[in-house]
Amino acid sequence: MQEPKTYFIRTYGCQMNELDTQIMAGQLEKRGLSPVEDEDNADVLIFNTCSIRDLAERKVMGKLGQIGRGKKKQALIGITGCMAMAKKDSLFRKFPHLDFVLGTNNITDLGTVVDEALISNRQIYKTDDKFEENLNYLAAKRESKIKAFVSIIRGCDKYCTYCVVPYTRGQEVSRPPESILEECKQLVDQGYKEITLLGQNVNSYGKDASWNCLFHDLLYQIDRIPGMERVRFITSHPVDITIDLMHAVRDLKSLCEFVHFPIQAGSNRILKKMHRIYTKEQYFEKVALLKQIVPNVSLGTDIIVGFPTETEAEFQETYDAIKEIRYSVGFFYAYSPRKGTPAMRWKDDIPEEVKQDRLQRLLNLQETIGNELRSEMLGQTVEVLVERLNKDHRLLKGRTRCWKKVIFEGPEALIGTLQKVKIHSFAHETLVGELVKPSSLLTVS
Ligand code: 5AD
Ligand code: SF4
Repeated sequence: MQEPKTYFIRTYGCQMNELDTQIMAGQLEKRGLSPVEDEDNADVLIFNTCSIRDLAERKVMGKLGQIGRGKKKQALIGITGCMAMAKKDSLFRKFPHLDFVLGTNNITDLGTVVDEALISNRQIYKTDDKFEENLNYLAAKRESKIKAFVSIIRGCDKYCTYCVVPYTRGQEVSRPPESILEECKQLVDQGYKEITLLGQNVNSYGKDASWNCLFHDLLYQIDRIPGMERVRFITSHPVDITIDLMHAVRDLKSLCEFVHFPIQAGSNRILKKMHRIYTKEQYFEKVALLKQIVPNVSLGTDIIVGFPTETEAEFQETYDAIKEIRYSVGFFYAYSPRKGTPAMRWKDDIPEEVKQDRLQRLLNLQETIGNELRSEMLGQTVEVLVERLNKDHRLLKGRTRCWKKVIFEGPEALIGTLQKVKIHSFAHETLVGELVKPSSLLTVS
């Protein structure tokens, strides 16, 4: 096969996968490849996959089957991401047209793997269990010029019984603080306005390392970078949310007042079976403390319904927890058994229609809570980072510090700037407002 000139990467799953795609794209571009819009025209075609639920895997399997049948041109085809880790070289048996399988901890080996596949004409796979610390993050090719993801810790040591992540992303490895600070400084110099610190559990940052810098220490250092406007972080395990972190959210100018820390379930029996290592009461205590220390904080959560043996009464506890806490953002999922996880030993005994019914009830509840929270914002002036034009190209669109979507009228030149917007109404999940003069008072929201 000739030296490839073009590439296409299709990304599935979470923000960590999005960032991994950007890092892989950066490497391909460094060796002279350019992106193409249509995957049929790519010389290197990569599927950066997700294994978190069965549906995510089935999507990729279907796509790969299709490509095998209708492979139009001679392209190198690779699978990266969590499915690569979960299925390893068994993927070659199912998809003989695959050229390489590259695990989550080997994304910087992409160039070498492409070379080897080209020269040897063999199927290559690399799936290390542990992440190599010296990743060259700075080579990521970012789509946006306004917001950037920065990885600070990879892997997860929590081993929730339903979750494949500890197996597909390996054990926790924190990135050295100097490397993170260097990347953040460069991003500010390039004009980025918002940085999202990424990790499966960002609050574990630094615990695995010899240096003396925990997550809140890192946040203080990032906040001190001149010109740093906004910092976010996802995602957090409730057990590792400390008072120091809450103080950082209160005190640091750049740190946004939004904390996504999934409760997953509201029943103590289910939490224990999930190995979440906290009780509902302990979680509620953290929420109360966080709301007391940062009164304007917005909260986000993930929930799994239909976990093995979950009764209607236990589901009701989850429902009541959401009602009481009033999250501004909720992601709700039906339990999906994952091979290799401890929960696989229990029968997936909640019928699909019961799972779907529970999901729908949570979605309805969240819509009501979301509308109430949005109503409370009418008349408030908020800070919006203007990201783009909305779909019909008439209005500007951005997000508040608390991650709420806002649209308003204004010149396109404001894209990439922070503006004050007075909220007058909302449509579905989006707040609608009008631009106010810079001298106006600002409520953080
Ligand atoms: N089934 C359903 N949802 C899951 N999640 C993780 N594993 C599973 C699973 N097996 C959800 C959790 C997690 C989010 C990223 O995905 O809620 O926080
Ligand atoms: Fe999965 Fe639990 Fe780790 Fe989150 S904390 S990535 S749900 S094992």
